[in-house]
Amino acid sequence: MITSNGRRPFISIRGLEKSFGPKEVLRGVDLDVFEGETMVVLGASGEGKTVLLRHINGLERPDRGEVVVDGQALGELGEDELDEVRKKVSMVFQLGALFDSLTVFDNVAYPLVEHRWGPEEKVRERVHEVLEMVELTGVDNLYPAELSGGMKKRVALARALALEPKAVLYDEPTTGLDPLVTHKINLMIRSLQSRLGFTSVVVTHDLKSAFMVGDRFALLDQGRIRFSGSAEEVRSTSDELMREFVTTAL
Ligand SMILES: Nc1ncnc2c1ncn2[C@@H]1O[C@H](COP(=O)(O)OP(=O)(O)OP(=O)(O)O)[C@@H](O)[C@H]1O
Ligand SMILES: [Mg+2]
Repeated sequence: MITSNGRRPFISIRGLEKSFGPKEVLRGVDLDVFEGETMVVLGASGEGKTVLLRHINGLERPDRGEVVVDGQALGELGEDELDEVRKKVSMVFQLGALFDSLTVFDNVAYPLVEHRWGPEEKVRERVHEVLEMVELTGVDNLYPAELSGGMKKRVALARALALEPKAVLYDEPTTGLDPLVTHKINLMIRSLQSRLGFTSVVVTHDLKSAFMVGDRFALLDQGRIRFSGSAEEVRSTSDELMREFVTTAL
């Protein structure tokens, strides 16, 4: 699909609905994320931001609606095909989700080994290449418990980059970090995106971080995307909730 302005949505979500028992979390989400852009999804805690991200790489199945990634409708895919989607759409989980019993090296190597990406020597090279991208060297043999919060996030980011994804989904990449480390991680997200050119979706409730990394912004509220637009459009919006979000968060 090509839109009128010639940009191709890499991710296209239509009428996405998802409930857990009686709790309706997503109630008809419509969202396009164009190739190569960074879309920030804003929203209060518990609004369903993580649930939305998990639909984009097939970790959750919709009750209704459609998620199309790189031209493929995920609803039609089996587990093996979804596994291929997860190779090209990687996720940096909200709490890092590193394996505590594995070293930094083995954590980053994990997806490469899992997907039989290549021989041991190539895996070793790739692990070091992505660790360098996130400015981590000499930490191969450390365990997650020995790392600072910011280092953990960077290892999680390196692991997400290992398979050369076409899109990266970040779930709260800076939560729990101090302002300086937050700034550093945001710079890293920005520079990796411009260097490698992949499509990004960043979930956050930190508006300062949002403006630093985002090209476009969407506000999830009561199960729907209530507003979406550029930074300029966010600043000049008449949408009351978006305005409230901007004024209280800055
Ligand atoms: N597997 C699940 N089973 C039952 N309920 C779930 C499940 N996953 C999410 N939920 C519920 O869905 C709602 C949205 O959760 P979600 O984690 O997406 O929120 P969020 O916007 O990411 O919040 P936060 O900003 O705190 O991370 C919550 O009420 C949560 O309890
Ligand atoms: Mg969440």
